[in-house]
Amino acid sequence: MSSMRGKLRLRYLLPAGVVVAVALGGILMTVTAGASASRAADGAQTVADLPAPSIHYVRKFTSSQVHEGEVLFEQTCSACHGPQAAGTALAPDLQGVGPATVDFWVSTGRMPLASSAAEATIKPSRFSAKQTLAIAAFVASLAPTSPNYPDGVPVVDTKNANLALGDRLFVLNCAACHTITGAGDALANGAYAPTLHLATTTQVAEAIRTGPGEMPVFGPGELSNKQVADIVAYVTGPIQHPENPGGIGLGGVGPVAEGLVALLVGVGALMLVAFWLGERA
Ligand code: HEC
Ligand code: HEC
Repeated sequence: MSSMRGKLRLRYLLPAGVVVAVALGGILMTVTAGASASRAADGAQTVADLPAPSIHYVRKFTSSQVHEGEVLFEQTCSACHGPQAAGTALAPDLQGVGPATVDFWVSTGRMPLASSAAEATIKPSRFSAKQTLAIAAFVASLAPTSPNYPDGVPVVDTKNANLALGDRLFVLNCAACHTITGAGDALANGAYAPTLHLATTTQVAEAIRTGPGEMPVFGPGELSNKQVADIVAYVTGPIQHPENPGGIGLGGVGPVAEGLVALLVGVGALMLVAFWLGERA
């Protein structure tokens, strides 16, 4: 009789204890994770003495680059933009837009357009990086770059970039249109903010500094070169290569929901063990 009661007690107390222990463990882990996340964010503000992440702007081109670009422009662009890129009824004036604007539109496949009725969208580029730079060099040789555009193609060094700051700047300046995961989204005015998962370091910096289409321009007054490099590092790092530090990704439904699934599966397994133990006692 007493062994029967003991069996019963074990049967109900053990699972209850397991549930309480797992729940406490879950709360503890959430609290410590939050603490270390905010510690990382605080640390970001105090590392001002690190060597600045650098962007340098390539603006010197050789005459053979300009010549190669002139031939390519003549073959693929001048029918719409005019032989001196001064614009026609079919396409806008490119004089003064600077080499970064041309490099961005050609390297992302937006240009050349198949027809003037077509949409300028991301496509595999028709040209090699070298040819693209040559076309940019030719257009840049026609007129000085207007002060509203970056004077040169940005080359970003993300070695010393601050990912925590990049994360924060991205949330503040970019996520409203491109979403927090960089997947892209439709905008209210019928425009579309595309995915950020395809852009190279140079293209991200070019987009920020030149503001293609409906995207605003972020000039040096809004974002410093260091801040641009931090954002570029964040986009080409964690955004393009998301990790799943919690183990198996459940389609990115979020840490709370994933934690809940882990809790339910874990508790379920432990309860089976507890019942099994109770059965044997
Ligand atoms: C079929 C006509 C057509 C051809 C060919 C074409 N373009 Fe364009 N281009 C356009 C139109 C139209 C726009 C405006 C598109 C927009 O704003 O969405 C444009 C926009 C651009 C812009 C952006 C200008 C700005 O101020 O934002 C650049 C740079 C550009 N083209 C470069 C080129 C280059 C370089 C080539 C050749 C490799 C080329 N285009 C070929 C029609 C054309
Ligand atoms: C108001 C909405 C808006 C904001 C804010 C915005 N963008 Fe954009 N972005 C766009 C749109 C729209 C395009 C597409 C332009 C086009 O193709 O005509 C674009 C294009 C881009 C591209 C080109 C992607 C590719 O592969 O061709 C990159 C990279 C980019 N944005 C990065 C950023 C970053 C980084 C920020 C924050 C500093 C930002 N954007 C802020 C709307 C926005």
